[in-house]
Amino acid sequence: MNYKEEDLSNFRKSYEKGLISDDFKKFNPFFIFSNWFEEAKQDKDILEPNAMTLSTVGLDYFPKSRIVLLKKFSSNGFTFFTNYESNKGKSISNNSKVCLNFYWPTLEKQIIIKGTASKIPKKKSEEYFKSRPLGSKIGAIVSNQSEVIESREFLEAKFREVSDLYTKINPQRPRNWGGYLVKPLLFEFWQGRKNRLHDRLEFIYDGNTWNSNRLSP
Ligand SMILES: Cc1cc2nc3c(=O)[nH]c(=O)nc-3n(C[C@H](O)[C@H](O)[C@H](O)COP(=O)(O)O)c2cc1C
Repeated sequence: MNYKEEDLSNFRKSYEKGLISDDFKKFNPFFIFSNWFEEAKQDKDILEPNAMTLSTVGLDYFPKSRIVLLKKFSSNGFTFFTNYESNKGKSISNNSKVCLNFYWPTLEKQIIIKGTASKIPKKKSEEYFKSRPLGSKIGAIVSNQSEVIESREFLEAKFREVSDLYTKINPQRPRNWGGYLVKPLLFEFWQGRKNRLHDRLEFIYDGNTWNSNRLSP
């Protein structure tokens, strides 16, 4: 099996689409997030503005990152849904410190959020589960996320089997499936600029107020 090795040392682009002025330092980071997110939603080239990278620290002390979908944003934090017994679920129950990352290439913007993740109330997970399409509900029941399975066919057979059970009754939320709320302690807003002199503004929560700093690119 041949494959092409790549040298990407000539891959570079100039970033010129925006800026973060010093005035932003006095803003609330949730306000900036909501403005940037609005911009990402309006951009037709961004198909899933709510796709974010979630990094957790595993039981083996290695970080692991994967994409999940942001389903709610409020002054309390950021909510996503997953399987509580998945790799990420086990990591979070051992170490609730997580990092989220949004990158919107067409806007040349990145947002990094460090925070602590906790399970949302069961009632809230149930409400969201109810709103999902039937296929997704069954998918959540069928998949023991992150476990080794013998084949694709095994998964599909299980899906068919479970689908047959739910032709008349509505599937209930599996107990191992639900939401996490990430409560932020740090935000970093990054805007690409010319000559690699990017703008970076960091906000750190001291338990009472948000303090901001401009960081060197
Ligand atoms: C665009 C996109 C959206 C995704 N959304 C979710 C999600 O909301 N929840 C989830 O559990 N996995 C989601 N996944 C799958 C995860 O990236 C990951 O494969 C899965 O959660 C298992 O991760 P883990 O084994 O590290 O726990 C998504 C993947 C992609 C590419």
